Amino acid sequence: MNPNQPLFKVFVTRRIPEVGLKRIEPYAQIEVWEDELPPPKDILLEKVRGIDGLLCLLTDPIDAAVMDAAGPSLKVISQYAVGYDNIDISSATRRGIPVGNTPGVLTDATADLAWALLMAAARRIVEADRYTRAGKWKTWGPQTLLGASVAGATIGIVGFGRIGQAMAKRARGFDMRILYHDLRPNPQAAAETGAQFTSLDLLLAKSDFVTIHTWLSEESHHLFNDETLRKMKPTAILINTARGQIVDPDALYRALKNGVIAYAALDVTEPEPIPMDSPLLQLENLIIVPHIGSASVASRSRMAEMAAENLIAGLKGEELPNCINPQVYSRPKARP
Ligand code: GLV
Ligand code: GLV
Repeated sequence: MNPNQPLFKVFVTRRIPEVGLKRIEPYAQIEVWEDELPPPKDILLEKVRGIDGLLCLLTDPIDAAVMDAAGPSLKVISQYAVGYDNIDISSATRRGIPVGNTPGVLTDATADLAWALLMAAARRIVEADRYTRAGKWKTWGPQTLLGASVAGATIGIVGFGRIGQAMAKRARGFDMRILYHDLRPNPQAAAETGAQFTSLDLLLAKSDFVTIHTWLSEESHHLFNDETLRKMKPTAILINTARGQIVDPDALYRALKNGVIAYAALDVTEPEPIPMDSPLLQLENLIIVPHIGSASVASRSRMAEMAAENLIAGLKGEELPNCINPQVYSRPKARP
C-alpha cells in the first residue's frame, strides 16, 4: 500500500469477527462501536460524519438522515447480514451509494438452526429439559412428553430461496413430503429436492411443519395472522427464522393459546428483542431463541470477510462482489 495514499475513514457499528477488521485495516482508519448494544441514532449520526464507508448490522436503521449525515464522502454501505430491511435501499440508490450484503455463507447455518428448532419443537426438547431440571422425572412415563413425528411428515416451506432450498434438502433426508410456496415457482430447485409447488392455502392446510424463509416485504408483513394461522392444522408446528414482522405476535399468541396450532419456534420476533412482558413468554408450547440463525463460528467469520470485501471494493470505487442495488453502476455517475 502506498504510504502517501490517504486512508479512508470507516465506521463499524459493532465489533465483528477480527478477520473482517484485519482485512479492512490496510485501507482505512477504522472506528468500531464497542458497546454490546447498537449505537443510538443521535450518536450514529455523529459517528458517520465524513466517513467513506459504513459497515452496519441489521440492528442499525440506516435511512436517508444517516446517509446525509455522512455526507458526500460516503462511498459504500456494507451490511453484515443477508437481510437488509433495516436499510433504505432506494435512498442509497438515489445517492449513488452501493449497498452490500453477505448472501450464501449463512444459508446452511440458518437452515441448521431452523432444522434444530423444528426438531426441538416436534419432540418438545426445551420443555423436556425444564421438566427434568424441575425434578419432575420420577419414572419412565408411557405418556410423558409425547411429541410429533418428523420422519415421513409433511413440511411446508414458505419462501424457496437459498435457505428454503437448504431446508428442503434436510427434509428430504427425513423422508418428508415437501411442499413449497414462493412468489415464483422454481422447478429446477424443486426437482433437485423433490419439493412440490403449491398455493399458500394448500401448503397451510396440508403441512405438519410450516417453516418461513421469505424476505420481509409489504407482501410478507404479517403474512401469518389470525386468518392464515386458522388455515393450518391444529397439530401443526410453525418455525420462523426469517424476520419477526412476518408473524403477527398477537395472532400467534391467540393461536398457540387456543389450540389453533400446536407449537411454534421462533428465532426472530416482533419487536426484537422480545419484551420480557410479552404474553408469548408465558406459553409452554413455544420456543424462542435470540436471532442466532447465522451464529456459527464459521458462518460469522465468512460474513465478516464478505462484509469487509464489499466495503473495500466500495472504498476503491470498484463494483461490490455482492451488491444489493447494482443499478448504481448503470446510472450516470452521481459523485466524483
Ligand atoms: C440475519 O438475520 C441476516 O439477515 O443475515
Ligand atoms: C437467503 O439467503 C435466501 O435467499 O433465502
